[in-house]
Amino acid sequence: MANKVAIVTGGGSGIGRAAAQKFAREGARVVVADVNPESGADTATAIKKQGGEADYIVVDTSSYESVESLVQQTLELYGKLDIMFNNAGVVGERYSVHEMPVEEYHRTVAVNQHGVFYGIKTAGNAMKENGGVIINTASIYGLIADRKHFPYHASKGAVIMMTKSAALDLARFNIRVVGIAPGLIETGIVSGLRNNPDLWHKIERAQMRGKAGTPEEVANVAAFLASDEASFLNGHVFCVDDGASSFKR
Ligand SMILES: NC(=O)c1ccc[n+]([C@@H]2O[C@H](COP(=O)([O-])OP(=O)(O)OC[C@H]3O[C@@H](n4cnc5c(N)ncnc54)[C@H](O)[C@@H]3O)[C@@H](O)[C@H]2O)c1
Repeated sequence: MANKVAIVTGGGSGIGRAAAQKFAREGARVVVADVNPESGADTATAIKKQGGEADYIVVDTSSYESVESLVQQTLELYGKLDIMFNNAGVVGERYSVHEMPVEEYHRTVAVNQHGVFYGIKTAGNAMKENGGVIINTASIYGLIADRKHFPYHASKGAVIMMTKSAALDLARFNIRVVGIAPGLIETGIVSGLRNNPDLWHKIERAQMRGKAGTPEEVANVAAFLASDEASFLNGHVFCVDDGASSFKR
């Protein structure tokens, strides 16, 4: 990734932080983008302390103007964009679909689905002269359903299909669009589950070897997908889930 310029949304925490650090270790100049100013700045500081190159830009990926400005500021800083990791996401409150507050549905879809569209659109424009790679974070919950997660399933299923559709549209610009679908990963987004050990262990057992993954294990896959070694991978979403989506339980 030497001399590549990468944006990582949701870079302040979990998978995004691990990916920003991994991309920087591989030589990329990384723009850490997050709605949380403290955590985003922390990631950028940690990268610089390790000798990497990073900046931090506040973004709310549910706003088109905010994502457009993020890409514009990145172009002003570095003159190009090679890698866009549309990773920011929220899990939302759990309700059965018939009791789901309409605002809660829209809030989750705004970040997880519309935010990824804004990232694809703006990065696609920024990359169309020189090519690039766009990676979207879906989830195995875009493939299989659990109870009381309707907006999350809706939005992550959309990310899988948006990845395929965008890959087809952007192929003529030498832009690859791929996705990752993590299983249970030990990050902030699932910290609420930690307070319920029975539920946590039940979900953990859904991974073939019975353990949650680490953000680094997902970041390693994202780094590979972003690299030239993955040059023939396009339009697919890769499950990073220790087989969780491959067996009946
Ligand atoms: N952890 C898991 O088990 C798991 C499983 C499947 C998919 N995912 C997906 O992985 C992605 C990363 O999540 P994580 O697990 O690292 O969780 P996390 O909560 O540690 O990180 C999510 C980051 O996104 C940021 N964010 C939230 N809303 C934002 C917005 N509107 N604009 C910009 N940034 C915003 C948060 O501030 C946070 O830093 C998400 O898309 C999530 O849905 C996670």
